[in-house]
Amino acid sequence: MNKVPDKIIIPSFTLNDGNSIPSLGLGVYKTTDEKEMHTAVDAAYRCGCRLFDTASVYGNEELLGNAIRDLDIPREELFLTSKVWNNAQRLGDVSGAFRRTLDRLGTDYVDLYLIHWPVPGCIRQSWKELIRLKESGLARSIGVSNFAPAQLEALEKETGVIPALNQIECHPLWRQKETVDYCLSRGIQVQAYAPLARGAYNDREILRRIGSKYGKTAAQTGLRWLIQRGISAIPKSVHPSRIAENADIFDFSLTDAEMTAIDAMDEGLRTAHVPQDLADTDWAVLTD
Ligand SMILES: NC(=O)c1ccc[n+]([C@@H]2O[C@H](COP(=O)([O-])OP(=O)(O)OC[C@H]3O[C@@H](n4cnc5c(N)ncnc54)[C@H](OP(=O)(O)O)[C@@H]3O)[C@@H](O)[C@H]2O)c1
Repeated sequence: MNKVPDKIIIPSFTLNDGNSIPSLGLGVYKTTDEKEMHTAVDAAYRCGCRLFDTASVYGNEELLGNAIRDLDIPREELFLTSKVWNNAQRLGDVSGAFRRTLDRLGTDYVDLYLIHWPVPGCIRQSWKELIRLKESGLARSIGVSNFAPAQLEALEKETGVIPALNQIECHPLWRQKETVDYCLSRGIQVQAYAPLARGAYNDREILRRIGSKYGKTAAQTGLRWLIQRGISAIPKSVHPSRIAENADIFDFSLTDAEMTAIDAMDEGLRTAHVPQDLADTDWAVLTD
């Protein structure tokens, strides 16, 4: 890995509600060891990272909250995201789940609250509950995750409130052109989860070759491609050296030809699984 600058300035994107969001953050899915969480959060913060992405289903909101408190910095310097899980949506308990999330994180508000998955029969109702959370000020911005255009359209039609953000799996091996284009057309910020495809493109020759021109790794090149598409990314790592590597992507730019060459790597590779309870869902037509 190349040398990391002392201080990396991570640029922000502006959301459709006027709030801003860091273009890069730390994902903490599967970070369930207290020491690992502490080390990862501390390393990310030192690299300039202010956005931390968790979810109630990760079972680590409390660990993240503790690690953040140990940073001993003003809350407003941070950007915290969490998500409501499917069972709470089915039970009509989105606001209860949200309160429990705040308790576990040990914070008065989250910067971004997302519907984790579109659950058949719950989409519109859950979105209305998120709108109320935004109105209360306890969720500064609200959005969704894993939503296809059909579900996004349904939310807008029902409430007139367009999600600020859609968090979807997105990386060079699955660029999600249709959903990204739809989000761009409606002013919805896209945020990429599994932006490293969980390691699946580390050995791809094309990314290595393009990256080597700038002294960057395949992982850095893939992340940079996302940022240049206007997509926010939340790579996960528990290793400080990798966290630093993933953050060190703001001192170079890919050319148009390089962006196009990476676009062409798309093979529709899904690395995160669809939850069992949603396995039979037809996302192309689901609207309620
Ligand atoms: N909304 C959703 O449905 C959803 C679904 C999945 C994930 N997410 C969010 O998105 C975040 C990121 O996604 P993800 O964790 O699934 O996948 P990812 O960020 O694409 O990949 C993480 C994996 O790559 C390794 N890694 C990290 N940096 C690396 C580097 N520079 N070189 C080589 N390997 C590296 C990590 O290992 P080490 O930790 O050992 O370094 C880990 O095994 C999650 O943590 C979570 O916050 C959301």
